[in-house]
Amino acid sequence: MLRLVPFLLLFSGACTGFQWTDTIGDGPQLEVCSGDPVKLYWYFNLTQGERLKVIEWKHQARGKHGHLVASYEEENFVPTADFSGRVSHGGTGAIELSCATVLDTGRHTVVVTTVDAAQSLSVHRRSVAVMINDSPKTKSGGLETRQEQKAFHDATTKEWHVRLSCGHFSDRGHPPLDVVWKTPDDGQLSSSDFSDGHFHLLVPNPVKGGNYSCGLPSNTPANKCLPQRSALYTDVTVYVDEVSARFALQEAQLQALKMQVENESQLLQAHLDVARLQVGFHASLGKETTLSDGDHLRSFSVVSNDGQAFNRLSGEFTAPVNGTYFFVGSTGTHTSSHHANMALMKDGIKVSETYLMQVGRNYDSSTVMGSCHAVLHLKNGQKVWLECTYDSTFWRGTVFSGFLISADN
Ligand SMILES: *[C@@H]1O[C@H](CO)[C@@H](O)[C@H](O)[C@H]1NC(C)=O
Ligand SMILES: *[C@@H]1O[C@H](CO)[C@@H](O)[C@H](O)[C@H]1NC(C)=O
Ligand SMILES: *[C@@H]1O[C@H](CO)[C@@H](O)[C@H](O)[C@H]1NC(C)=O
Ligand SMILES: *[C@@H]1O[C@H](CO)[C@@H](O)[C@H](O)[C@H]1NC(C)=O
Repeated sequence: MLRLVPFLLLFSGACTGFQWTDTIGDGPQLEVCSGDPVKLYWYFNLTQGERLKVIEWKHQARGKHGHLVASYEEENFVPTADFSGRVSHGGTGAIELSCATVLDTGRHTVVVTTVDAAQSLSVHRRSVAVMINDSPKTKSGGLETRQEQKAFHDATTKEWHVRLSCGHFSDRGHPPLDVVWKTPDDGQLSSSDFSDGHFHLLVPNPVKGGNYSCGLPSNTPANKCLPQRSALYTDVTVYVDEVSARFALQEAQLQALKMQVENESQLLQAHLDVARLQVGFHASLGKETTLSDGDHLRSFSVVSNDGQAFNRLSGEFTAPVNGTYFFVGSTGTHTSSHHANMALMKDGIKVSETYLMQVGRNYDSSTVMGSCHAVLHLKNGQKVWLECTYDSTFWRGTVFSGFLISADN
C-alpha cells in the first residue's frame, strides 16, 4: 500500500486541469477557399477550480510580424479593428472568420491563459497553418487559345517559334497556377511565360502540325475552389497548320536576316567613312609676331587644311574624330637677344616645347631654329594649339602642321 501513494499522486497530477476538445489541431494545414469562412474551432474544457483569465487569437502571415485578431476577457469578446465585423466567437477558444481572403493565409494561433485555485497562471496554445486558395478567373469565364500571327523570336536561343497563347486571365488564382499544354502527339509542355494575362507556348521546332490544347492542371489547390460547372474546366484547342507555320517561320528568318545584313552594311559604311577621312593642315605665321607668355600663336596663313579642322584665326586645331594625330611646330626669332619659346598644347596641357634665343647681333651669321612635335591620341572635340611660353618674337617662317594618322574604330 505504501508504495502506491507516490504513483497515484503522479498520475492525478498529469491528468488535472485544462483540456483541448477542439476539432482542428496541429495537423496539416487547413485549406479554405477564398470567400468561405475560416473555422478555427478550438474548444477546451476547464476543470473545477480553474478560471479563465484571457484568450487571444493571433495571425501571422509568412515573413511578417504577427498581429492580434481578437481577445476575450471578462466575458467580453473584442475583435481588433482589422477584423471587426468579420470575426465571431464560437464558444471557448473557437472563432470563425467570415469571407476569407488570401491575406488570411498564414499561421493562426489561440493562446488561453487560465488561473487555478492556487492563483497560478498557465498558458495553453494551439495553432494551425491556414492556406486560402483562390480560383483563377478569366475575362470571358472560359479559356481561349490562339496561334499568334507573327513568329516569335526567342532571345535566349535566338530561334524563331510559332507562339500560342492561352487566356485571358484576370487572376491566376492563389497559389498562382500554370496551364498545361498538350501537343498533337499527346505530349505535355509547359508555358514559356505569362504576360498580359496570357500563357504562351513556344512550339518546338521543327513545328509539328495538329491540335494543341490548353487546360488547367487537375487537382491544384486553386482549382479546388472553382465552381463545379465552371467553363474553366474545359480545355481549348487550336489547330496549327504545319506547312503554313513552317513557311511563316522561314519568312520571319529571312526578314531578320535581311535586316541584319542591312544593319551590318550600314555599320561597315560608317567605318569606311571614318577610314577615308582626310584630316591635315599646314600653316605659317607669315609675318614677325611678338607675343607674351600665355598668348596663343594665331592669325596664320593657311597652306592646306584638309577636313577644315584647323582654324587659322584662333590657331586651334579641333579633332573631328577620335584617333591618333601627329603635330609639329617649328620656329626661330631672327631678332637679336630675343626668345622664340612656344609649347604645343593639348587642351591646355603642354606636350612639347621649344626653348631658344638669338644671341648674335646679326641673324645672318648665327641663326637658331627650334621645333616641338608630338603624336597624340585625341577625342573628338579636343583642341591642340601653339602657345607662347616667354615674351618672344617669332619670325615669319614659324609653321604649324598636323594630320590624322588613324581614326579609332
Ligand atoms: C467538455 O465539456 C463538454 C460539455 O461542456 C462535455 O460534453 C465534454 O465531454 C467535455 N469533454 C471532455 C474531454 O471532458
Ligand atoms: C482538331 O480538332 C478539331 C476540333 O476541335 C477536329 O475537328 C479535328 O479533327 C482535329 N484535328 C486533328 C488533326 O486531330
Ligand atoms: C538593326 O538595327 C536596328 C536599329 O538600328 C535594330 O533595332 C535592330 O534590332 C537591328 N537588327 C538586327 C537584325 O541587328
Ligand atoms: C570617342 O571617345 C569617347 C571617349 O573615349 C567615347 O565616349 C566616344 O563614344 C567616342 N566616339 C566615337 C564616335 O567613337
